[in-house]
Amino acid sequence: MNEKGANDQTFRFRNPSQVENILSQYPDRRSALLPLLHMATAEAGYITQPIINAVARIVEAHPSEIMETVSFYSMLHTAPKGEFILQICQTLPCSIRGADNLVDHLCERLSIQPGETTKDGKFTVMKVECLGACDIAPLVQVNNDHHEKMTVEKLDKLLKSLS
Ligand code: FES
Repeated sequence: MNEKGANDQTFRFRNPSQVENILSQYPDRRSALLPLLHMATAEAGYITQPIINAVARIVEAHPSEIMETVSFYSMLHTAPKGEFILQICQTLPCSIRGADNLVDHLCERLSIQPGETTKDGKFTVMKVECLGACDIAPLVQVNNDHHEKMTVEKLDKLLKSLS
């Protein structure tokens, strides 16, 4: 979190030289958008309107363009999420191998609906589109880690290991 907090009117990256370093790695400022959004997420936990405004200024784009990008990528969030973000792929290869059943099981176990976070802030369940690992469907991604060929039994073990 920056020194003023994520919900204040302005957002400033903690390390402006790191921002400049990222910008210097791309031929144009807009190409640095995703790395800057990831950096902001690392600092603030999720993407707020002040962050969108700040990043828009940096990459010289309209805030609505930044918001379009944020809403496109399932790894970018505009609200607080749980410590563990459980993303279940819902695209056809995962779906026909039981992904829907995995979502139902997970939501029942955690007493939440897709898109929600448990009251203790530990788990968020999200239905997402293809995560690019269709050959190991059905896929569950926990934060940045892939868990392949998921079954209800493996999911229960995974939840136990995270609790
Ligand atoms: S369809 Fe699920 S990872 Fe591609």
